Amino acid sequence: MATIEPMQVTTRDGRSVRLRTIHPDDALPFMALANAIAEDSGTLGMSGGELNYSEQQERDLIRGWIDDAHTLVLVAEHIGDDGVARLLGDCSVRPGPRRKMRHHVTLGMMIDRHWRGVGLGKIMLSRVLDWCAATPGIEHVRLQVYTSNTPAVRLYESLGFRQIGLSPQYFLHPDGTRHDDLTMALWVKPGLAPTGMATWRGDRAS
Ligand SMILES: CC(C)(COP(=O)(O)OP(=O)(O)OC[C@H]1O[C@@H](n2cnc3c(N)ncnc32)[C@H](O)[C@@H]1OP(=O)(O)O)[C@@H](O)C(=O)NCCC(=O)NCCS
Repeated sequence: MATIEPMQVTTRDGRSVRLRTIHPDDALPFMALANAIAEDSGTLGMSGGELNYSEQQERDLIRGWIDDAHTLVLVAEHIGDDGVARLLGDCSVRPGPRRKMRHHVTLGMMIDRHWRGVGLGKIMLSRVLDWCAATPGIEHVRLQVYTSNTPAVRLYESLGFRQIGLSPQYFLHPDGTRHDDLTMALWVKPGLAPTGMATWRGDRAS
């Protein structure tokens, strides 16, 4: 079962955030957040409104993520002055679709636009990489990102991810523009990284 102990962290501008494993009760707010971020950023693989499962379907998906030993969906939430918790983003890893691909996981992440640029993404990604390094059987972490998504690419590079592939014109937008997709990877177990790739060693890669 893939869960981690909840933890309290502080953003660079002094706001308090709770990190915890996703829960089935997050189903509706999680879909709403993903659709809003897809719409406002244009840098997720999905489009705004595309995540439209029923609440029950999303709850079942979340239960499946929690039950899978190689899946972790870490969410961030902030308790407002009104005492209500609000989801701010997620950082997740999921294994490849077949048995022969379960030694690597694919990373995805998104942060509410009012909470970007204050270190939250870096904190969340570091905790997820720590979890991957400590989880038996996970050897490396892969991700796909728009080549033009400078904040994300810089974040990934700063933690040791390196480019392993480029897919030209991977995304076709409704306005007719085409966008390239970068595949990056970081190893999390010692002694396995191919030449030119880095290994995560806890808050840094080497
Ligand atoms: C990409 C994303 C997750 C980054 O999260 P974040 O919380 O804003 O990032 P952080 O504040 O932790 O910044 C971490 C590093 O990323 C880089 N970075 C962040 N914002 C940046 C910006 N606007 N320009 C350039 N680099 C930037 C920096 O290297 C930064 O390190 P530094 O603060 O020490 O300089 C966030 O911008 C986001 O959710 N974007 C929309 C969805 C998306 O594109 N997700 C990624 C899909 S692959």
